[in-house]
Amino acid sequence: MVAQKQINHRTRPILKWAGGKSSLLPQLVRYFPDHFERYLEPFFGGGAVFFVIPEGTRSIVNDVNPEITNFYEVVRDTPEQLMKALDMMGKQYSEEFYYEVRLTNPRSRIQKAARTLFLNKTCFNGLYRLNSKGQFNVPFGKRDSLPKLYDERNLLDVSRKLKATTIRNSDFEKVINEARAGDFVYCDPPYEPLSASSSFNAYTGRVFTKQDQIRLFEACNRAAKRGAKVAISNSSSPFVKKLFQDWDIVSISSRRSINSNGNRRGVIQEILAKSY
Ligand SMILES: C[S@@+](CC[C@H](N)C(=O)[O-])C[C@H]1O[C@@H](n2cnc3c(N)ncnc32)[C@H](O)[C@@H]1O
Repeated sequence: MVAQKQINHRTRPILKWAGGKSSLLPQLVRYFPDHFERYLEPFFGGGAVFFVIPEGTRSIVNDVNPEITNFYEVVRDTPEQLMKALDMMGKQYSEEFYYEVRLTNPRSRIQKAARTLFLNKTCFNGLYRLNSKGQFNVPFGKRDSLPKLYDERNLLDVSRKLKATTIRNSDFEKVINEARAGDFVYCDPPYEPLSASSSFNAYTGRVFTKQDQIRLFEACNRAAKRGAKVAISNSSSPFVKKLFQDWDIVSISSRRSINSNGNRRGVIQEILAKSY
C-alpha cells in the first residue's frame, strides 16, 4: 500500500483533540514510507493522521482513553444512530443542558459517543480535560447559538474509512508489540514537556512519565528490529533526542502555545524520529 503523499482534505477528524496533527500533516506525510501493508497507530486521539492513510489499508488504531475508542467504534458501526442522538441533543442546547449532559454517564454506547461529541463541540475551546477522578471538567463554551455538531458527509466518510480498521482500547505497548515486517507504525504520544511547567498530559487524567517515554522507545526499537517501519512524533526535548539518537531525526515546525496559559503562540520545533 502506498502512503498518500498528497493530502486528501475530504476526510477530517470529527473531534477537536489536544495535540491534533491536522496542521502538521503536509510536513509529516512526506517522511512516511512509500510502501506498507498494514498501518498501526497506538496513540489515536482525534485521528488526524489516520485519515491520510489510503482507504482500505488494513489498520489497527488504539487509544488508552475509552471515550475515544468507543466514539470511533460507534462512528464506524452505527453512524446514522449517532447522528440521530446528536440531533436530539442539539434541540435541547443551553448552558443548563450542557452541565446536565456533563454529569451523565450513559450506559448505551451510542449515547456515550453522542455525549463525547456534544461536549467536545459545545465546551470551552474544544478542550478535553479530566480531573483526577477521571471526570470531564471543562466549562460551557458560552456561544450564542448551537455550533454545528457534525458534518454528515464527513462523518459518513470517516465511518467508511474505519471499516477495515480494528479499534483497540489498551496501552500502546500491546499494539506496538504486534508490529512486524511490512507494517508502518506511527506514534504520536503525549509529548515530553520542554519545561517543568508545560504539559500536554491531560487527556487521560494520568501523567505520561519519562519511564513511559523509555518504555515507548524500547517497544519501538524492538518493532523496528522485527522489520516494521516506525515513526514517532515528540517534542525536541534533549531527553527524547538522546533516547532516539540512533534513529533518523527530522525537525518539524509547529505553531503551538508557547506559554502556560496558551494565549501566546509561536513556532517551535518538534521532531519526527524514524527507524527507516
Ligand atoms: C497527542 S494525542 C494524539 C493526537 C492525534 N495524533 C491527533 O492527531 O489527534 C495522544 C493520545 O495518546 C493517548 N494516550 C496517552 N497515554 C497512552 C497510553 N499509555 N497508551 C495508549 N494511548 C495513550 C491519549 O489518550 C491521547 O489521545
